[in-house]
Amino acid sequence: MITAALRIGILGTANIARAFVSGVRPSSTVTVTAVASRDATRAEGFAREVGIARSFESYEALLADREIDAVYIPLPNSMHAEWSVRAAEAGKHVLCEKPLSATATEARTMFEAARKHGVCLVEAYPYRAQQQTLKLRELLEAGAVGRVQMIQASFGFTISNHPNIRLNPALAGGALMDAGSYPVSLVRMVAKERPSRVTAVAHWTDTGVDRTLVATIEFASGLLAQVSCSFATAVHRQALIAGSEGVLQTTFFNHPSPATPPLLHLRRGKGWDSTTETIEVTATNGFLAETEAFERLVRQGPVYWTGASPEESIDIMLTLEAILHSARTGKPVDIEATAAD
Ligand SMILES: NC(=O)c1ccc[n+]([C@@H]2O[C@H](COP(=O)([O-])OP(=O)(O)OC[C@H]3O[C@@H](n4cnc5c(N)ncnc54)[C@H](OP(=O)(O)O)[C@@H]3O)[C@@H](O)[C@H]2O)c1
Repeated sequence: MITAALRIGILGTANIARAFVSGVRPSSTVTVTAVASRDATRAEGFAREVGIARSFESYEALLADREIDAVYIPLPNSMHAEWSVRAAEAGKHVLCEKPLSATATEARTMFEAARKHGVCLVEAYPYRAQQQTLKLRELLEAGAVGRVQMIQASFGFTISNHPNIRLNPALAGGALMDAGSYPVSLVRMVAKERPSRVTAVAHWTDTGVDRTLVATIEFASGLLAQVSCSFATAVHRQALIAGSEGVLQTTFFNHPSPATPPLLHLRRGKGWDSTTETIEVTATNGFLAETEAFERLVRQGPVYWTGASPEESIDIMLTLEAILHSARTGKPVDIEATAAD
């Protein structure tokens, strides 16, 4: 049976949407058919530039169109909740950029709207669809490093373009929300539990968002994690996962490339005499892998989705909020143990 490709519309002419369109272009299961902008001319220009058939003069108009099955939302972080809920109300499935929202309360509201209207809503983390991440999870599951005791994960780069939504507190910018959501999501994926407490320190920009931030994350199981993120470092993105019987070091790129190959370094054994094995896996464009997985989620069910679950996305938002609060107040912040969801 031939099933038509899932038709995706994009809300906003974001920079990242250009890479998204080009990444998913080879797919036979998903197709980007439309883009909407706050400005009709901008929408037309973007559609022409990237080769999308249709453009809309407003986000509302795109959501009202019956020939669109799902939306990709690369709007500023502060707008993710409103437009995900409006998309769900319009019966569209939602692939929303990270971080899912600006607060955990918003995240819960978004999932509630998706449940109510019978659509799928997921937070976009392309690295979660990569073989590198699947291999990492498989190794940890198989006990390759024993019981995980400590995780360090970091993502930083330099912001050079201004103005930038990432530097605007009103749009829920900041290094933590932008870059830091990745290491926090990785820690939550490996830990498989909600953190219990966080402590953080940050340096701030003139605009009032965190420029560089370091946080400690505690778990009830005894696992400890450290995450760091920055808008003021050379680009890097890596994790170290130390267990009772070994150590795994890995990158977690959205789109591994020849310059940043998808390698995992696994040392089995406790001592310096144990040898390190380097495991190389295949890689693909992260947007392609993620969006095809999203299509399988929509059409065949959750078993086909390797990305963040609703529980994980809510925990990531709880953690991001708590970390930011700790960095602002200089005090540890406890995270509620039980879900209100
Ligand atoms: N997965 C990834 O690899 C990745 C990479 C980068 C960014 N992201 C995420 O993607 C989202 C967008 O990031 P970006 O850097 O691509 O953003 P961007 O280029 O600044 O684009 C954001 C878009 O949102 C729309 N918009 C609506 N209200 C706006 C406002 N008040 N100010 C600015 N823009 C507004 C604009 O489209 P119109 O004017 O056309 O409506 C704009 O083009 C963020 O959530 C970010 O965290 C993900």
